[in-house]
Amino acid sequence: MCGIIAYSGQRKALPILVAGLRRLEYRGYDSAGIALHRRGRFATWRAAGKLSQLEARLPAQSGAKCGMGHTRWATHGEATDSNAHPHHSPDGRIAIIHNGIIENATALRGALQADGAVFNSETDSEILAHLVAMHPADSLRDSVRLALRQVQGTYGLVVMDASRPGELVAARNGSPVIIGVGEREMFITSDANAILTHTREVVHLEDGELATVQARIFSIATMDESMISRPPVTLDHSPEALSRDGYDHYMLKEIEEQPEAIARTLGGRLDRQFGTAHLGGLNLSARELRDIRRVRFLGCGSAYYAGISGANMIESLARLPAASEPAAEFRYRNPVIENDTLYIAVSQSGETFDTLAAIREVRSRGGRVLGICNVVGSSIAREVDGGVFMHVGPEISVASTKAFSGMLACFMLLALQLGRIRDISPQRGDELVEAIGELPGLIRNALGESPRIREIAARYHGASSAFYIGRTDAYPVALEGAQKLKEISYVHAEAYPASELKHGPLALIDPDTPTLVVLPDNDLLDKSLSSLQEIRARRGPVIAVTNSGREDIHSLADDVICSPPCHPLLHPLVMNVGLQLFAYHTAVLMGRDVDQPRNLAKSVTVE
Ligand code: AGP
Repeated sequence: MCGIIAYSGQRKALPILVAGLRRLEYRGYDSAGIALHRRGRFATWRAAGKLSQLEARLPAQSGAKCGMGHTRWATHGEATDSNAHPHHSPDGRIAIIHNGIIENATALRGALQADGAVFNSETDSEILAHLVAMHPADSLRDSVRLALRQVQGTYGLVVMDASRPGELVAARNGSPVIIGVGEREMFITSDANAILTHTREVVHLEDGELATVQARIFSIATMDESMISRPPVTLDHSPEALSRDGYDHYMLKEIEEQPEAIARTLGGRLDRQFGTAHLGGLNLSARELRDIRRVRFLGCGSAYYAGISGANMIESLARLPAASEPAAEFRYRNPVIENDTLYIAVSQSGETFDTLAAIREVRSRGGRVLGICNVVGSSIAREVDGGVFMHVGPEISVASTKAFSGMLACFMLLALQLGRIRDISPQRGDELVEAIGELPGLIRNALGESPRIREIAARYHGASSAFYIGRTDAYPVALEGAQKLKEISYVHAEAYPASELKHGPLALIDPDTPTLVVLPDNDLLDKSLSSLQEIRARRGPVIAVTNSGREDIHSLADDVICSPPCHPLLHPLVMNVGLQLFAYHTAVLMGRDVDQPRNLAKSVTVE
């Protein structure tokens, strides 16, 4: 989604802004722009397309020490030069970059046009520049505040005034804004990854706050003009975590680093003495945990699929009814919120708008929400009543891999902790602690299959459609496998519970449509093999994904993606690794833009 980077300091702003925009690229965008403040005016460049197209228009250098840059993901109006940010007021005095959506844009635009205003773009954001310029005040922050009083919607924005050198004003409502505090220099961004090479000291703006930022000083105030004092916090990840480290793609790097990432997720949380797990951040006593009667996971996309797996784990280990639901659907269907239900919001980025809105819906009705997030300091992490960080490190590729695994590892720990409080004996707890502790090694073994999986991908990458099927625990693995393939290869991929095949999808099986059958070594293996036989009987190619040692699978399937044998609780996480690799190799063979697939954004901060 859209990205913000702004700078005020002693150094030349242009290279800092361009590097910042590069760091924001992974979020997904379709145009970009930069405005520099120099000698009482703005110099602005904008371009549709990739950053290289903007760079081709930029000057080789500029002495400006203050400016801002933006990557835009089109919402109002196509991806064109004129719709790219920054936007200006008609007199050129105000420049603005904006993430979010102004919901009353049509009414505001109409009213301004009735008064003779002329717009240069189709965007809702340009309206903000007009409104700020229409409210002269003692300070730029006051002008912005007055303008925002007319606005409904979400925003994370930065404004500059050509008559105020070195000054940036930021405001936030529903879209992240972070101030980076450096040595005699300040940054504003929507994503801390964009400024990590300069500073790790950051201040997060809250909704309804505005900040004035200059090279050596910043101040924060609310919309009702109360001053806020908030010291910077230090981010714990290093800029090195953002490098590609010699890999062709971030996605492959992130797949390959899962053993270490998951070791960090588990680190210090398994209790070998009492056969349980400790998730300190839950902020719930053992008694409160025991009083929970239901668990509901809320997330979007892969986080929702991960939640299905989490619900299975909770039901199995803690014997609590549990379910996962897409966060946006939950929020709009007037859900029943109960005191004894534990709501768990699941999100890698911690910024997904729909998940955040679902959290607010639950909390506004008195419900309790925990978060499972990767990004420390993210909006979701700050709004929930407690939770668990995945600690898998920054995930840059749009396709989630190590964060999906991190979610599943967190669910295992939560299910074990809840299970031990309710249903599980110390002996079984010991067995589960032992099993979960083996995860990093098992993932490493699963990764060892990569060359073979590449060969298999090479045999199928011409297919225009693929099915993924699995039963019970294997179903979310099928869903996530299909999600990965469609996201990055653009091959149509559908997942079904294997039992549903003959209730509809079987009609689509033909010799050109491969089906990936997820076959964990469990009591349902024979039933899943019946589904495999049904596909074969219709001459459909089958790729079995299995951790079973059964020989007949190799003769029944056209190809087999092998996964290491492990405890059943671990099946979804470990078996999913093979499907991550299958999607990755397929997309590479098809020449796709693996890390930044078309139309997608890394974190979806609009509804
Ligand atoms: C995952 O590969 C997808 N890019 C997408 O479904 C993602 O999981 C979803 O948008 C939720 O993101 P979040 O985890 O940051 O909330």
